[in-house]
Amino acid sequence: MLSEKQNRALTEVGAGTGMGELLRRYWMPIAAVAELDDRPTKPVRLMGEDLVLYRDRSGTYGLLDRHCAHRRADLCYGFTEEHGLRCHYHGWLYAETGQCLAQPFEEVAHPEARFKDRITIKAYPVEAKAGLLWAYLGPAPAPLVPTWEPFTWTNGFVQIVFAEIPCNWFQAQENSIDPVHFEWLHGNWSRVLSGVDGPKAPTHLKLGFEEFEYGFVYRRVMEGYSETNDLWTVGRTCLWPNCLFTGAHFEWRVPIDDGTTLSVGWFFDRVPNEMEPFTQDRIPYWDAPFRDPVTGRFITTHVMNQDFIAWVGQGTVADRTEEHLGESDRGIIMMRRKMLEEIEVVAAGGEAKAVIRDAEANRSISLPIIGRDRYVKGAPRAQLVREASSTPGPILPEGFVFLAGQPEAIRAAYRRAMGLEE
Ligand code: FES
Ligand SMILES: [Fe+2]
Repeated sequence: MLSEKQNRALTEVGAGTGMGELLRRYWMPIAAVAELDDRPTKPVRLMGEDLVLYRDRSGTYGLLDRHCAHRRADLCYGFTEEHGLRCHYHGWLYAETGQCLAQPFEEVAHPEARFKDRITIKAYPVEAKAGLLWAYLGPAPAPLVPTWEPFTWTNGFVQIVFAEIPCNWFQAQENSIDPVHFEWLHGNWSRVLSGVDGPKAPTHLKLGFEEFEYGFVYRRVMEGYSETNDLWTVGRTCLWPNCLFTGAHFEWRVPIDDGTTLSVGWFFDRVPNEMEPFTQDRIPYWDAPFRDPVTGRFITTHVMNQDFIAWVGQGTVADRTEEHLGESDRGIIMMRRKMLEEIEVVAAGGEAKAVIRDAEANRSISLPIIGRDRYVKGAPRAQLVREASSTPGPILPEGFVFLAGQPEAIRAAYRRAMGLEE
């Protein structure tokens, strides 16, 4: 059981808070590259800061204060120029550094004053990688955006899915290191929801947790399996500080503010060998609904929707002073302890865990991956279909099981890529 003070330390993300300063040492995914093809500006709220993301006409990305320094107009209605973002109200123009480049009327009235040279607004670096746009709100020098091994894979259908969830990011991340929930929240609850009166999901018999350079690995032995199974020998990964990685998909829990989380999913489906070579000129993205528009109730049909319900059900900020932790929560306890330690490390001026600065190592960072070979080399379609029911490992699902609401165009593109009938 944690004290109120510890609960706050783990959950508050504003600038100047311990956790806020720790999280500002990491790049956060905030948008899809393709979003700015559709519209060149996007309002972004990240760790309590209101910002505008844009790509100017020369292709440079910027992340600026949401409000213009002149009279505070909303810059997400600004328009992009060859260089920079121009406010729609009186035309002040800003570079990606936050420097004001032009003030049309001031330059007519007092050209010699060069008022613009004295105006800068808040600005943060942005980088594109793996179809995502990443932002860094921490002190310079910025580390590298991690090149996780799956970002280098080819011949995969990748899609990015966002969902805004009304609760604190940390309870979402605790879910990343909670193997037993899989049996109940996904396995048994899904059986109940679908009205199937069959056998229960396999019971967890043994859990293992350990820290590694980029986070924690968790292992499980379930009824009917032994310690020779990949789920024990390789395990799954909870990436530091705010991501779950299961082998071919990532789920980041990005703090919008203390009470809201942006769930960012990156999903890789390897095409069968018959469909190679396969490339995407644009990685598609979509926003997943959280509530059923008709009933207003939370959607329960898909894996991550079930996770969202668990997180939100804990309250906007889970009250950890009222919990009763058991043996199944050993990983959660380890992660909390490490977070509290890392807050101290950063407060003392040290380098935070899993910050990457070595460009050579960052060409591709390998992680524990169950079934790596088949993500990399693929397999014939017949084999994938045959194995589709035996998790874990790469499979060829008929549809998207993680989140409800996938747009029809993306579903059709997926099925074409996989060689499935439309
Ligand atoms: S408020 Fe932006 S230019 Fe005046
Ligand atoms: Fe889950």
